[in-house]
Amino acid sequence: MSRIVTQRVWLILALLASILALAGIVFLLVSGRYFPRAQPDLQNGNELKIPVLLQDQDPDPDMAEFVLEAQSGQTNFLGSVMTDTLGYNGSYLGPVLRIRKGEKVTIRVNNQLDFPTTLHWHGLVVDGEQDGGPHQGIQPGESWNPTFTVDQAAATLWYHPHLLGDTADQVYYGLSGLIYIDDENADQLNLPQAYGQNDIPLIVQDRSFNRDGSLAYRTSMMGVAAGDTLLINGTINPYLNVKKEPVRFRILNASNAQNFAFRLSDNSRFWQIASDGGFLEAPLIRRSIFLAPGERAEVIVDFSKTKRSDVALMVGKSAIMAIRISDEKTETSAIPESLTDIEPLIEGNEPRTRVFDLQSMGISGTINGKSFDMNRIDEEVNLNETEIWIIRNRGGMMQTGGHPFHVHGTQFQIISRNGRPPPPQEQGYKDTVFVNIGEEVAIRVRFTHAGLFMYHCHILEHEDNGMMGQFRVS
Ligand code: C2O
Ligand code: CU
Ligand code: CU
Repeated sequence: MSRIVTQRVWLILALLASILALAGIVFLLVSGRYFPRAQPDLQNGNELKIPVLLQDQDPDPDMAEFVLEAQSGQTNFLGSVMTDTLGYNGSYLGPVLRIRKGEKVTIRVNNQLDFPTTLHWHGLVVDGEQDGGPHQGIQPGESWNPTFTVDQAAATLWYHPHLLGDTADQVYYGLSGLIYIDDENADQLNLPQAYGQNDIPLIVQDRSFNRDGSLAYRTSMMGVAAGDTLLINGTINPYLNVKKEPVRFRILNASNAQNFAFRLSDNSRFWQIASDGGFLEAPLIRRSIFLAPGERAEVIVDFSKTKRSDVALMVGKSAIMAIRISDEKTETSAIPESLTDIEPLIEGNEPRTRVFDLQSMGISGTINGKSFDMNRIDEEVNLNETEIWIIRNRGGMMQTGGHPFHVHGTQFQIISRNGRPPPPQEQGYKDTVFVNIGEEVAIRVRFTHAGLFMYHCHILEHEDNGMMGQFRVS
């Protein structure tokens, strides 16, 4: 090869390299990542927003009727600028849907957006047609009217869109809300239950903002970058006032892809009382709680004897919410010794066993080597039969971490994690289980309602990009 050709090749390579470098700088500038952002200042915070309880339109105590409107709007997160967002019955997030075991519920979901959406009840045990998955699309200007009878114990669940390929960005811009289920057992436990006072919802999400105030939702081949700002109930830099009494927190990790390990700044102990599907058998003493996207936990922090006037809720090393403790004492409820009974789901002699192999590459992934196909039913399951599902994370190229595996239409029980019994916090009902790289989790699962349902990774970008399958229960 002549020297001239070699020189040309070098020239072209150098040119390419400088174009790439330039593009990189432009990207950094445009994305705003180049500019350092203010750290949360917990002294001068914003009072934690508490979502409203959605008004039941039906006077009959055994029936409930709700209206939810998916809409676009503007939200003031940052003080000086407004942010374009999505919400239900408001501009960001949605109201709490509070329903009771045994109650017959009708919901009118109106789509006021100018694009299609769906509304899925995450953790709710209902027929496939009422589940709000990708098959129940709601066109702009149309409405969807699911109806069901609440058929499960007290729990903290949530709702969010599930439109094929568009779940991640609809959730990112604000479409999510909580569902509380009440029952007789919960009534008689004498737990803190004054909504917004000592029974506090915490919807935790990571977000990034551009300098003009708009939300900066970005993904790349490598996956989703962690947001640089944490929102709780849509509040930046929140503080919460509490009295000297036990306070219950219902925590939802509603992030698209980030895991959180929550603790208190003084590392004090608290009690975990519930996981995804409801109460644990007994309160469990904890110092930190790990939640992957989609998972929930209910905890009680007892402030009745504290000498402190404030403490912070932390994620890792960052304070994410200031808790200001007033001197006011109230009649305090004791932490009950036991919460509920959890019987193992009865299985036959040779229960049907299915294996789900999770694999991801950056933002996309597969389950059992298959990418989601709306026209393919991956599994056929018999109604009311207990099965064993084994979920394995085989890792993958550009794998960023574990996968929260979620199953619709049921609450399951974890039998083992890597061959050993699950830790106590995973011995209650679950609908989402975190499976780290190289891990293997076995669950006992039974479906009491028929229809078509989804299982998927709850990293919403993975779900949107193939890491989902569907099964029919009949
Ligand atoms: Cu939280 Cu398939 O959903
Ligand atoms: Cu779900
Ligand atoms: Cu995943």
